[in-house]
Amino acid sequence: MADLTVEYLGLGLKNPLVASASPLSRDLDAALHLEDAGAAALVMYSLYEEQIVAEEHRYDRFLEHQALGHGEADSFLPEHPGHQSSLERYLDQIGRLKERLDIPVIASLNGVSEAGWIDFARLIEDAGADALELNVYYIAGNADESSADVERRYTAVLGHLKRQVALPIAVKLSPQFTSPLHFIGQLQQAGADAIVIFNRFYQSDIDLAQRVVEPHLELSRSYESLLRIRWAAMVRGAFEVDLALTGGFHQSEDVLKGLFAGANTIQLASALLQHGPGRLTELLTGMNYWLDENEYESVGQMMGSMSVARTADPAAYERHNYLDVLNSFTPPPGVRY
Ligand SMILES: Cc1cc2nc3c(=O)[nH]c(=O)nc-3n(C[C@H](O)[C@H](O)[C@H](O)COP(=O)(O)O)c2cc1C
Repeated sequence: MADLTVEYLGLGLKNPLVASASPLSRDLDAALHLEDAGAAALVMYSLYEEQIVAEEHRYDRFLEHQALGHGEADSFLPEHPGHQSSLERYLDQIGRLKERLDIPVIASLNGVSEAGWIDFARLIEDAGADALELNVYYIAGNADESSADVERRYTAVLGHLKRQVALPIAVKLSPQFTSPLHFIGQLQQAGADAIVIFNRFYQSDIDLAQRVVEPHLELSRSYESLLRIRWAAMVRGAFEVDLALTGGFHQSEDVLKGLFAGANTIQLASALLQHGPGRLTELLTGMNYWLDENEYESVGQMMGSMSVARTADPAAYERHNYLDVLNSFTPPPGVRY
């Protein structure tokens, strides 16, 4: 059987499959199932800026009213005895996961601003997390904000975190950057140890009957992995930074393609939410089978061998075939225009 071990964020992993941030890490039993099924590391669900900020505001209001001696101060009391803040719950969960799992546990922060909410990153480090993933989930909807301003948000939060902790840090990106390679170079300079490409934006839908906008969560499909695979090949051609792919990895073929393009790890969420942790075992079996059939002795041997830097036809990842692809369209049988 091929050697599946990889390095990611300075961690030696038994294989390239990582459980991506999802509700599965909230539940200790689910996390144990993921490990048993073959996950090489676990990214925890994110700690959210808005939760922390809302709790801080409630607490400030409580202290303010108490200092003024307002009788109604009790109504601002955010906590009753035994109540834990989301930060405390998060730190406890890191402790529980670290105690019971052998695989590395990567904590995750989700926010958009550099402000004080990330000052507690050191607590995450003290709680025993092996690394940190930063998910700046930001919809650039302000017409006065330039793309350079949006990029500065990321580098500012990253810089702030790098000053706080010695943990390796991965930055999870959205697919909507004007010049992703240039930006990834900046993140690397700012100290990113790994880049995770790409998070999925959840879309808002319009309910025609009620005429209201509602958030819409749909799990991914395999074809979405192709965007990640192309950019992995381009990033690996340009930078040495560690690379994780997330978004649309469902089949062992998707995973193998991601590794050929240059990823160190492949993160899975939808596949595990849809089919359960056992999906990991199926993917590992499929990968092993393919590697043996094709006489690869290790994942290391194939990783990045189809990146832009190493493939025989680098232009195929760029504009090169654009016209040919468009011209290859043929009408479905029976359809007349
Ligand atoms: C229900 C659900 C919860 C998620 N929670 C988080 C989260 O807390 N933090 C985060 O960075 N990503 C979160 N994600 C995004 C996933 O980690 C992953 O990047 C994304 O779903 C794309 O991968 P996939 O195609 O394998 O689902 C979540 C995804 C889903 C479906």
